[in-house]
Amino acid sequence: MSARLEKLASEALGELSGASSMDAVLQLKTRYLGRKGEVASLLKELGSLSPEERKKAGEAINAVKARLEEAFDAKVAALEAGGRAERLQRERIDITLPGRTIRPGRMHPVTQVMEEIEEIFSGLGFDVAEGPEVELDYYNFEALNLPKDHPARDMQDTFYVSDEVLLRTHTSPVQIRVMEKERPPLRVIAPGTVYRRDSDITHTPMFHQVEGFMVDKGVTFSNLKGVLTHFLHSLFGDKTDIRFRPSFFPFTEPSAEIDIRCVICGGSGCRVCKGSGWLEILGAGMIHPEVFRSVKYDPEEFTGFAFGLGIERIAMLKFGIEDIRMFFENDLRFLRQF
Ligand code: FA5
Repeated sequence: MSARLEKLASEALGELSGASSMDAVLQLKTRYLGRKGEVASLLKELGSLSPEERKKAGEAINAVKARLEEAFDAKVAALEAGGRAERLQRERIDITLPGRTIRPGRMHPVTQVMEEIEEIFSGLGFDVAEGPEVELDYYNFEALNLPKDHPARDMQDTFYVSDEVLLRTHTSPVQIRVMEKERPPLRVIAPGTVYRRDSDITHTPMFHQVEGFMVDKGVTFSNLKGVLTHFLHSLFGDKTDIRFRPSFFPFTEPSAEIDIRCVICGGSGCRVCKGSGWLEILGAGMIHPEVFRSVKYDPEEFTGFAFGLGIERIAMLKFGIEDIRMFFENDLRFLRQF
């Protein structure tokens, strides 16, 4: 018995020292010390021995059992300690490393210019109105004195959704929507997104406009001139030269286009102003009597002016950007500069 015990002990300790995982150790422990393990089966054999031998053998087995239990406990403790050390190493955080900085977002340059324009006109008592981007042909064209066969419809190449529904080509339909609902006196601007089949370095299929209009008794062209001169001086500086040129829009009569002295070359002529020294910046005019009739205002009682401008055009001039498409490429290296 004692030889078998020694062999069992040395086998168990040998295997235990070779075991490197907790799983393997627990399996060995079951095999040697479990209820049906090797030590238990030796204990079972005690019954067949004489009382004296049984006592001696029993003590010897218990001594080996105690030795093995101690060895297993020590191994388990060592593996646990090793695991913890390894985990601490793996999960180590170097708190001296610099943190990752979160870059704050910036307002898009088009939004910045849009807000600046809104601020100037709120200072003059204008309210801000909005209208739908998917618009009815009626509001985009017909009510603005552009019947179906009017040649001036070609001035704005249109995305149609169906015969009667389109993506608005300008913010002028908001004029009609506001006037249908409200009575003069009105001072309103309507900023928003518009769409045209257009694409080159100064035109994109989607862009932004601000429409503005003022309607009351006795509004004249000099009101138009005063308001727009104040607006352009606020935006580009008091010293900026401005000129009014006769023009044509079906919804205004008389109509004008307003130019500012080229902010790039100061008027001597460059690529941006195509050598003319002037930059076209606004379309405007006195609201056509036909437009008033379509919203049931009496053109004998009320007069008004309206204007429209492209926001990207203004942002290009303010920030010296030569290609309008850069606003919509969403290149952060570009956008972070504003
Ligand atoms: C109009 O859209 C008129 N509704 C403006 C108006 C309102 C006149 C009220 C009179 C009274 P126009 O088609 O010229 O006008 O467009 C106005 C501005 O939008 C242009 O001066 C230009 O700056 C800008 N624009 C036009 N097409 C594009 C485009 N594809 N991409 C970027 N900007 C554009």
